[in-house]
Amino acid sequence: MTPRRILRGQLVDFPVEGQIRHEEKGALALGKDGRILWRGAYSKMKREWRELPTDDYGDQLIIPGFIDAHIHFPQYRLLAAPGKDLLDWLNRFTFPEEGRYASKAHAVKAADIFLDTIIAHGTTCALAFSSVHEVAAEALFAAAHARSMAFITGKTLMDRNAPEPVRDEAEAGGIASERLIGKWHGQGRLQYAITPRFAITSTPEQLAVAGALLKAHPDCLLQTHLSESHAEIETVKRLFPKAKDYTDVYDKFGLLGPKSFFAHGIHLNARELARLGETASKVVHCPTSNTFLGSGLFHLSRTRQAGVGAGLATDVGGGTSYSMLATMGEAYKVAMLNGIKLTAAHEFHMSTQGNAELLGLKDVGTLDVGKCADITVLDAQATPVLARRQALSTTLEDVLFSLMILGDDRAIRATYINGKRLHHRKSK
Ligand code: GUN
Ligand code: ZN
Repeated sequence: MTPRRILRGQLVDFPVEGQIRHEEKGALALGKDGRILWRGAYSKMKREWRELPTDDYGDQLIIPGFIDAHIHFPQYRLLAAPGKDLLDWLNRFTFPEEGRYASKAHAVKAADIFLDTIIAHGTTCALAFSSVHEVAAEALFAAAHARSMAFITGKTLMDRNAPEPVRDEAEAGGIASERLIGKWHGQGRLQYAITPRFAITSTPEQLAVAGALLKAHPDCLLQTHLSESHAEIETVKRLFPKAKDYTDVYDKFGLLGPKSFFAHGIHLNARELARLGETASKVVHCPTSNTFLGSGLFHLSRTRQAGVGAGLATDVGGGTSYSMLATMGEAYKVAMLNGIKLTAAHEFHMSTQGNAELLGLKDVGTLDVGKCADITVLDAQATPVLARRQALSTTLEDVLFSLMILGDDRAIRATYINGKRLHHRKSK
């Protein structure tokens, strides 16, 4: 097969946790099917391929596209809303903003802006919350499909403790979810995630509906929030007095399992961690959100030691940046405050192959032959501060480390999805 396009640059990926795989003068051949057809040293590439259309990135870094394991579509404008804490932030800013997504016209326009924004930040794939409105999930699925993205989302289920414009009803929410699963799950690269917002905004009847949906569709994912703030945990205790703890609420309704993703998980007790590990449930660390909302310091090592898989995510708009680079930088700082030093190799793995494995996405995560060509190109000299810092970098780990501490969308030179370049920043 003749490739559609050749990419030249430094190939950098993270197939094994804590390790960097590197081809300094590398090339990738992208096939007509959107997959990686060949990888290696440019000097070893077939000579006749040198005449093919080529994007030459010189010494810039060609890496697998970032995967954001938790982000909110209807919060795309909501970054930097100064709530007192999670519940105040939800009530004062978030629910009113999400209410606008009842309008199809608003949702359709927002979906394009949202996806183009994450792509400009180097993110090629995400597990995302939509709003409670079926039209908004429809708009987001359609926009992701048009971009050939590996994208997972679902209509949020929330039938109490929220204003009327963002509430559904247990049965109707289940029927709308079924409709969306039938239409979108498995369509192209799309998947459906059953999406109860969290225990506070769902009645027991609605959590039972979510459990029944997961049972009926075991190939779908499930996403929700868990143990983010102390006030949230106290409220859950009041609403579900018979539950052993917060995790037990979800457990009772059959929501734990290998395809279940719990955002935050900051204040879990030993029993909860053990139960999440036992059921192969996953936790997603959202560091910029946790520091911004003052929710607490996530314990990555404690979570891992309990046998619980942990991913990394922006949680925009509780999170303060769309950039997975900035998110890695914040995760580094949170870990430092817990007395643990993470390496760039470790965090870039989390943002790529780690999140891919966690989400069960076999077609993405590395630059291996056969993977979909979801690719991000990083310019380690994108800003004057970064460029001056590189004068001191002696290793690739050093370059990647400075990118995750100092980088943002300015460092994203290009983004490819399924072999097509959807974002390109002109060189300086
Ligand atoms: N818990 C319930 N809903 C939300 C949300 O939208 N963002 C965050 N960070 N936590 C939540
Ligand atoms: Zn969230």
